[in-house]
Amino acid sequence: MPPNVVPRNAMPPKSYDRAYFDRWYRASDAPRGDAELERQVALAVAATESVLNRDVESVLDVGCGEGRWQPVLHRLRPELIYFGLDPSTYAVERFGAERNLIAGGLEDLPTYAFDDPFDLVVCADVLHYLDDETVLRGMDVLAELVGGLAVLEVFTGADRPAGDRDGFRQRPASWYRRVFEGAGLVPVGLQMYVHRETAEILDELDRLDPSGGSDPLPSGPRG
Ligand SMILES: C[S@@+](CC[C@H](N)C(=O)[O-])C[C@H]1O[C@@H](n2cnc3c(N)ncnc32)[C@H](O)[C@@H]1O
Repeated sequence: MPPNVVPRNAMPPKSYDRAYFDRWYRASDAPRGDAELERQVALAVAATESVLNRDVESVLDVGCGEGRWQPVLHRLRPELIYFGLDPSTYAVERFGAERNLIAGGLEDLPTYAFDDPFDLVVCADVLHYLDDETVLRGMDVLAELVGGLAVLEVFTGADRPAGDRDGFRQRPASWYRRVFEGAGLVPVGLQMYVHRETAEILDELDRLDPSGGSDPLPSGPRG
């Protein structure tokens, strides 16, 4: 092997340190700006409140990074309780006290004895960096914590997101659909999901039917 080539398994593991968040969230060419975040949070709050028919009161953010969702949520719903979980030592040391973040990953969810499910569960821009086993095990636990809505923002192998591609897993959409469905989550669009028990009380067309439905179209003037 040429002397300047470092084998993959000898490279340091990816680090979600301050430099990472400066690069991908604060650099002048960072792909994910404040306006996009504000829109994403506003949509999640509105959708959760539509499902629950009341204000959102509790949020769990898995892989929350620096907990960017917390100040935006707090501006919209000052009474809301936010709980962020992330394995980044930097993020928890820097923002833990201010934004209520604690150290841990998706795989650590079973170690927390939450009293109740959360109105809104967020896992944004995380799952496509995790191995299959972690996603499969973690999703079953996460789904049980979804009292209202889950926002599971994932990029697939068909997407071309501007941003960090280090360790990105090129999975097909069908893989995530199967995992989410297997965990008991039902899609309602725009990467939002409800627990299947909640889905039963929604109107039929609130839920997405991945098959697109199989009934023939009624014949009309064009048919
Ligand atoms: C691209 S950042 C997204 C951060 C945040 N969700 C946001 O949208 O601002 C990916 C995050 O996943 C976290 N992460 C890494 N391994 C994880 C795991 N096993 N479980 C949960 N989060 C993890 C990283 O520490 C990092 O904060």
